[in-house]
Order: sequence, then C-alpha cells, then structure tokens
Amino acid sequence: MDIVGRNSILAAQGTSHTRLKSFITRAIDQPDALRRIAIKVQPRVASALRSWAEKGTVVAYNEVKKVTFENIGKLFANLEPSPVLDTLDEMFDGMLMGIRSYPINFPGTPFHHGIQCRNKAIGIFREELERRKMYQNSDNTTKDVMDGLMLLKDDEGKQLDDIEVIDNILGLVVAGYETTSISITWTLYYLAKYPHVLQKLREEHMPLRKEKDGEFITSDEITKLRYTYQVVEEIIRLANIASTIFRTAAKDVEYKGYKIPKGWKVILWARYLHTDPENFEDPLCFKPERWNEPAKPGTFQVFGGGSRICAGNMLARLQIAIFVHHLAAGCKWELVNPNAEVTYLPHPKPVDGVEIAISKLGFERTLVEGQENARGSVATKVALGPLQSKVKEASQPSETGMETSLINALSLIDEGEVSIGDSGQGNKVQNGSNDNSHLADLLPRSGSRSAVLKPCKLLPNQGVIRWVISIKERVESKPLGIKS
Ligand code: HEM
Repeated sequence: MDIVGRNSILAAQGTSHTRLKSFITRAIDQPDALRRIAIKVQPRVASALRSWAEKGTVVAYNEVKKVTFENIGKLFANLEPSPVLDTLDEMFDGMLMGIRSYPINFPGTPFHHGIQCRNKAIGIFREELERRKMYQNSDNTTKDVMDGLMLLKDDEGKQLDDIEVIDNILGLVVAGYETTSISITWTLYYLAKYPHVLQKLREEHMPLRKEKDGEFITSDEITKLRYTYQVVEEIIRLANIASTIFRTAAKDVEYKGYKIPKGWKVILWARYLHTDPENFEDPLCFKPERWNEPAKPGTFQVFGGGSRICAGNMLARLQIAIFVHHLAAGCKWELVNPNAEVTYLPHPKPVDGVEIAISKLGFERTLVEGQENARGSVATKVALGPLQSKVKEASQPSETGMETSLINALSLIDEGEVSIGDSGQGNKVQNGSNDNSHLADLLPRSGSRSAVLKPCKLLPNQGVIRWVISIKERVESKPLGIKS
C-alpha cells in the first residue's frame, strides 16, 4: 500500500470504499461507460495491429502493453502518447516491481525504487490536476476518470483531496494495466495454438466486419457474440492472471471441519480452483465450448468476489473481445516459439513474451519460400495465394538469386511501387547481411500500389526464410522507406 497509496480503492474500507467502488464501477464497468470506451480504444488497437503487421515479427506482450497503456492514459487522465506518458509507463513498471518485492525501503531495493517511481508519478499527476483546476469547465462535465474523481463528494459534500484523486488513478492503473496486457497476450497465444477456435471466431466476426464497412464494432454488438464470450471466459480461466486472492477472517469461521480464527489471513488459490478436474472437465484443455454451461457456483474466481470483486472485470472482458474482433477479422499470425516455457512469477506468461509472425489477412502473401543455400541466398519456390496465377517459378539460386526471384515475382504481381521493410530479427539474407535496403533500388517503382517486403523468422523450419509482402493501395504521401 506504500506504493499504490493508502487512499486508493485497493486500500479503502467501509463507506469510503463503497463510494469509490460505486463511482469507479459507473465510470469504467457499466454498459454506458463500456459503450464509450469501446469507441475510444479501438482506433489504437486497429492501428497497433497494422503496425505489427508491417513489422512482421513482434513480441506480443511488449506491443500489447504499449497499446493498453496508451488506452489507459486516455481513459483515466486524457493523456495522449507523449514523452510524459512514456515516463509514466516506466514509473508504473517500477511500481509493479516494488509491489511484488519485500517491503525494505533501502536504496537499491525494488521496493525503494517503487516508492521513488510512485513519487515521480504523483508529481506528474499533480501537475495535471493543477492544470485542470485552472481550466475547470463551468458545467462540470467529465471527460475521463480523473475529472470524475475530482468531482466526487462524500455524504457531507466534501470533495476528495488531490492525493486521494491521484492514489485512485495509481490504484486503477496498477490493478488494470498488467492484468489486461497479459490476458490479451494469452489471447494471441491461445488463438494461434488452437486454429479451429480462431476459425470459428472468424465465422462470427467476418460477417460483422463486412456489414460494418469500416466502422468499429460497438460494445452492444460484442455482447451478442456468443462464441467470443466463451473464448474470452476460457482465456481468462486458463491464464490465471490473479492466481491468489487474499482475505482476513472478520470473525471465527468454520470451513469443512476446520476453524479459521478471527484475524487470520486466508489465501484463496484461484489457479487451483480453475484447474481442478472436479470443477472443470479436462481442465488444462482450451475448450471455449465448456462455457455452453455456466461454471459451478464458486468455482470461477478470476475476478474475486463479494464487495471486493474486480472493479474492471467487464472492462477487461471488453478489451480482450475487441482484440479478438480485430485479430480474427483482420490478421493471421503464428507463434515463433510454439513450445516456449511458461514463467509463473509475477504473472503466468510464456517466457518469450509470445513472439509472433503476424500479417494482415488478405493484404499479404507469402512470396518466396525456399531453402537457404550455402551462401545464404534463398530462392527456389514462389508460393502465392490468390496471386499465384500471376507468378511463374522464380529464377534459380545464384549470387543474386534472391533478388532476382523477388523481382520476377513482383513484376508479375502488378506494376507496383516497392519499399523494403526492416529486415526482421535474426535473419540471414543475401551475403549474410541483415540489411536488404539495397533491394529497393532494384524493384519497379510506378503505379498506385506499394509493397513492403519483409523476411520473417520461422523457427520450426530452420534454414527457411519466408518473405512476406504486404501490398497496399498508395496514399497521397510517399510510403516510407522508398528510395528516390
Ligand atoms: C483480466 C484482467 C483482470 C483480472 C484477472 C483482475 C483480477 C482482479 C482480482 C482477482 C481482484 C481482487 C478481487 C477480490 O479481492 O475479491 C481485482 C480487484 C480489482 N481490480 Fe481487477 N482484474 C483485471 C482487470 C482490471 C481492470 C481492467 C481494472 C480497472 C482498470 C481493474 C480494477 C480493479 C480494482 C479497482 C480492484 C479492487 C476492487 C476493490 O477492492 O473493491 N481490474 N481484480
């Protein structure tokens, strides 16, 4: 609590807790709020997925964190991406490490660092509060959670102090940032591991995407997607992000013949509940269909329960479902390390942070796939989906075999404008170099379409480099990376 703050909802008790809980639930977790939030967060999600697809290979956890934090900044304090938001992101990382460490406030310890990060974050939010006080609307309208907290009054009409407002913003970010980021990371993992589930999701989302014709999905539409709901519940059951829940016995309690005396600390081991075959058949299997039936009472405690139940549980579900929508209807991706081990502390996640090779559905083709030869050049086979008919066999490997085959293939696709994307990670390309920007000079540059070429790393077939080409309609400005 020294790091999150003693005034935060996470620490508050009694009427103060009830008042804060009711405000926060209204602000972020009820249908009206969720409607507004769904519209606010989606542009960032859609643009993040576009940028991942352009990069070709990304570590999902790192990228999801960025977009989640940008959305949190907007929702809680109307902050746009900026150096200040980046600093806050760093401060929250430090605070989270501190919260999970021994509370030894001594220079060099994570706890001490967490306190320093808290103080720096307080400084930033204090400035924001002062700015708002100067420009406060006369009609008291609220654009975000911080505005709402500033206006919140107790029974005697007293408003929260500055530090109470700030502690609650800190508490919400601490409770919602990492948890949401990890659950979305697991979403990418499970959907890649279970393609039949992704396929069923596509069947649910594609028609909707078509019908919406470029507009974003609404939270009301999301609540009608039955299979999506089942997938989300199954992801959060298996992800077990909050593996334990703490309570203190308020009075002597008798449980299954054991007496728990008043004042004792009790830990509910939620991960055990969620993976107990008594509660869930074949519990370690990812089976969204199990949610055709509700869980047995008391066996599904992902968000805790009672008066302390998670204040952002519907918001978390909504954010996962929004990602599911944009991923299922717009992307395809593979796990780079499908057998990565899972670490469990501080939260369960695959050790590689879920590295994925990702591209946009329908806009990219696997262009050239071939065995690397002794010189590190690749060019044996052209594999194109719908464009196959326009492509002939690539030329045989040679000193410049890879370039030649790509150029041949491209020239057959369309007269196109071509830029070379970054070369991905760990790929050996022509002459063992990772810099393939020289290829830009060799490729055709006219017409209304542009293409980005990227080799993407595929570990399962060592020695094979697959080139991904993203073809885009040309926009007014010149696409980045084109040499003229
Ligand atoms: C998948 C994501 C999430 C998981 C697994 C999760 C889980 C939990 C759990 C287990 C608790 C403790 C409940 C108890 O003691 O009974 C909790 C509390 C809380 N969570 Fe979440 N949470 C998630 C997302 C969020 C989000 C997005 C927010 C808001 C931005 C949020 C805000 C809170 C708050 C404010 C509390 C304290 C509630 C209170 O003390 O009354 N959580 N959460």
